[in-house]
Amino acid sequence: MSSTLRQATASYAGTVKTSCTLIFQHGDIVQHAATPTYAAEVPLAFVELDDLVRWPERLFLRQTFSFTHFYQEAIMKLLAFAASSSKKSVNKQLVTYAAHLVAGAEVEVLDLNDYELPLFSVDKEADLGKPALALAFLDKIANSDAILISFAEHNGSYSAAYKNLFDWCSRANGKVFQGKPMVMLSTSPGARGGASVLASATTSAPFFGGQLKASLSVPTFYENFDVEKQELKNEELKEKLLAALATLA
Ligand SMILES: Cc1cc2nc3c(=O)[nH]c(=O)nc-3n(C[C@H](O)[C@H](O)[C@H](O)COP(=O)(O)O)c2cc1C
Repeated sequence: MSSTLRQATASYAGTVKTSCTLIFQHGDIVQHAATPTYAAEVPLAFVELDDLVRWPERLFLRQTFSFTHFYQEAIMKLLAFAASSSKKSVNKQLVTYAAHLVAGAEVEVLDLNDYELPLFSVDKEADLGKPALALAFLDKIANSDAILISFAEHNGSYSAAYKNLFDWCSRANGKVFQGKPMVMLSTSPGARGGASVLASATTSAPFFGGQLKASLSVPTFYENFDVEKQELKNEELKEKLLAALATLA
């Protein structure tokens, strides 16, 4: 899990009470940003948690002061993409919506069009080696904490765009998913919601280093998803989706 420096400011005005309570967690870094008079006396500095204990005493009788509280918060870097290159991809709409339901996650939604490569063949591979775009895609996976994919189904299987990128990536690293926890989704306008491609993807995920946590197929996309609001309107499906996403926490 990544750790990101977050900031919150707590300000206290008026006469400072000795019993002033500040709640910080062990390991927090606290920077005190004081009023100009106070700053003149104690320059801005990072202090350790232990110093804080003494602060209320030192600040006693000060008229005004403020703390800027920096705290370390575990943020999940969630990499999301649709296994589709369609501009109006229903899977991209679903995966973007779903990714932003994951509380506290830092979401990056990739577009497969940014990773377009020549049609894979061993001959092209002999010419091109390991293309930079395939390596860049693998890097995105390596730098994530979890992966969310929504698969488009073409003739019961993967879209050519996804399969092609996957083939190139697999030649650079057979464990394409690099051990990351994953949730796999699929949707289509049809009643089966891409169930066939989802079955292929979920079955093979462990062979490619995927730590599959949950999967969900969303049938009849246009009936169940509000395209204007960009959200699921079917409450039962929404609950199932939330339960699937919760497995990434
Ligand atoms: C070549 C092709 C094959 C398709 N085959 C299937 C299929 O097997 N099952 C299905 O549910 N939908 C199929 N569809 C319809 C897709 O589900 C639909 O185009 C969907 O929008 C694709 O997902 P996307 O919008 O995320 O790209 C196919 C579409 C195309 C263009």
